Amino acid sequence: MNVPILQMRGITKTFPGVKALQDVTLDVNRGEVHAICGENGAGKSTLMKVLSGVYAHNTFEGDILFENEPCDFASISDSEKRGIVIIHQELALSPYLSIAENIFLGNEMASRGWVDWRKTNLEAAKLLARVGLDENPVTPIQHISVGKQQLVEIAKALSKEVKLLILDEPTAALNDEDSDHLLDLILHLKGQGVTSIIISHKLNEIRKVADAVTIIRDGRSIETLRVDQGQITQERIIRGMVGRDLDSLYPEREPQIGEEVLRIEDWTVQHPQDHTRTVVHNASLNVRKGEVVGLAGLMGAGRTELAMSVFGRTYGRAVSGKVFKYGKEINTSTVPEAIRNGIAYATEDRKHYGLNLIEDIKRNISMAALPKLAKRGWVDKNKETTVANSYR
Ligand SMILES: Nc1ncnc2c1ncn2[C@@H]1O[C@H](COP(=O)(O)OP(=O)(O)O)[C@@H](O)[C@H]1O
Ligand SMILES: [Mg+2]
Repeated sequence: MNVPILQMRGITKTFPGVKALQDVTLDVNRGEVHAICGENGAGKSTLMKVLSGVYAHNTFEGDILFENEPCDFASISDSEKRGIVIIHQELALSPYLSIAENIFLGNEMASRGWVDWRKTNLEAAKLLARVGLDENPVTPIQHISVGKQQLVEIAKALSKEVKLLILDEPTAALNDEDSDHLLDLILHLKGQGVTSIIISHKLNEIRKVADAVTIIRDGRSIETLRVDQGQITQERIIRGMVGRDLDSLYPEREPQIGEEVLRIEDWTVQHPQDHTRTVVHNASLNVRKGEVVGLAGLMGAGRTELAMSVFGRTYGRAVSGKVFKYGKEINTSTVPEAIRNGIAYATEDRKHYGLNLIEDIKRNISMAALPKLAKRGWVDKNKETTVANSYR
């Protein structure tokens, strides 16, 4: 039986110069997993922020009914009181606090001004068990992987007695194994009566968990497809997202393959701490001009370790092997040497290893090329701006 839990009607939300949402409709039934699908910038996150009170009710037009009652949330805490909990695209946990502290942050188990730590950790452990996370509640958040942090966010949502769980691209930063675990958990919670909205454009995930899919394009709701009506097909979702039929999912390419640019020979790397473990064994590969070469393998197979150790030995110890550029051996033993030889490395974990978050966008773009932008030790700011702008 399809009983509506959420109805959003005529939602219009404008930012200065941008109409992010225009007359959007969303109907979610109780107990279902409802996917929201759309290209980057379509308005998915904005719609969920409207729903969860991140944007107060007087900052948008339209009506929201939750469990048949009108909603006029002024803040997130208002929506949480009704059992609507949102987990944002960028996780919002405090790295230095423990798992338990994060779960009850803002919602502390306290009496007469004192936090009851025994109870906090005990209740946290129960919640962790519900999400299938085998970690000690006192472990600092920064010591667990992103996949596990995502589970902590869900445990936190459960502590608020969630009825409608909103997950904004929850698997974007997760590997396949962690993604699978998360999707299984969403299905498990569904079995316990939790309704979920999941934003995703990964079609295999949608097929795995969703009962319905609402497609958003350019700030408008295009249509809602339902599994029980046999409407969820890859072709239909893509057509809705991009607004036309695609002749081929992977367009024909005509690569122009040229001479060999890079060759790695007999590359061997040991684990930085555990000296008995060799993480990369005699790896060899070559890349020709115009090629995109994929490094395939399971988690832990050594792909990132290979890439990082080639890029200035930023991983591992006792690195051995040779790197050739256009047939000539080059030195990549430090990051400046690797950069000087034209090698760039875009990290898996951008926020930790790729970007300097307290610097501006300009400096982050120019950082690897500062010597070229400097004269006698001083950065030419005008030149830096011009260069950064052109790459932007
Ligand atoms: N706080 C904001 N201020 C101005 N524009 C915004 C803001 N948030 C989102 N937008 C704009 O609204 C549109 C929809 O954004 P968003 O909801 O984040 O898309 P999605 O989540 O589907 O990728 C985009 O054009 C985006 O640039
Ligand atoms: Mg988004």
